[in-house]
Amino acid sequence: MKIYLANDHTGVAMKQAIAQHLTSQGHEVINLGTDDTTAVNYASQGKTLGLAVANDSGAFGIGICGTGIGISIAANKVQGIIAGLVYEPQNAIVTRQHNNANIMITGARQIAIEKAIECVDAFLKTPFEGGRHEERVKTLLTMEGEKK
Ligand code: RB5
Repeated sequence: MKIYLANDHTGVAMKQAIAQHLTSQGHEVINLGTDDTTAVNYASQGKTLGLAVANDSGAFGIGICGTGIGISIAANKVQGIIAGLVYEPQNAIVTRQHNNANIMITGARQIAIEKAIECVDAFLKTPFEGGRHEERVKTLLTMEGEKK
C-alpha cells in the first residue's frame, strides 16, 4: 500500500516508529514531515496530508498531532478525505468498516507508540463494509462547503 505520513512537532518519534514499521512490512511510505521538534502548524500539516491522499487514488494517510484533534479537523476539510481519530485498535477497525476512512489520525500525547502501531495495523488490514454504510459515507463526501 502507499501511505502518506504527516505530523506536527509532537508526533516526530511516533511518526518515525510508524514509518519504520510500515517500511519493514513492504509498504510504500511517503513522509510529509516534520522530522524536527521545532513547533509547526498542525493545521498546515493536516491540509498537506489531506491534499496528498485526495490526489492519489487508493492511497492512505496517517496523521499525528498532540491530541490528533487539530490535524483531523484540518484533514477533514479537504474534499475526498474522511479522517478518523483513533486511540484504540477497535476505533481503527470501525472507522474503516463504517466510515471508509482514508486517513487515520492519532494523538502522540494520548497513546503510546506501541498502541499507535497496533492502531495502524488494524486500520490498514480492515476493509470498508459497504452496504448500509454506503449512503452515509456518500453524505460525508458530498456535504463539504454546504451552508444552510
Ligand atoms: C500542539 O501544542 C498541539 O496544539 C497540537 O499538537 C494538537 O494537539 C492540536 O490539536
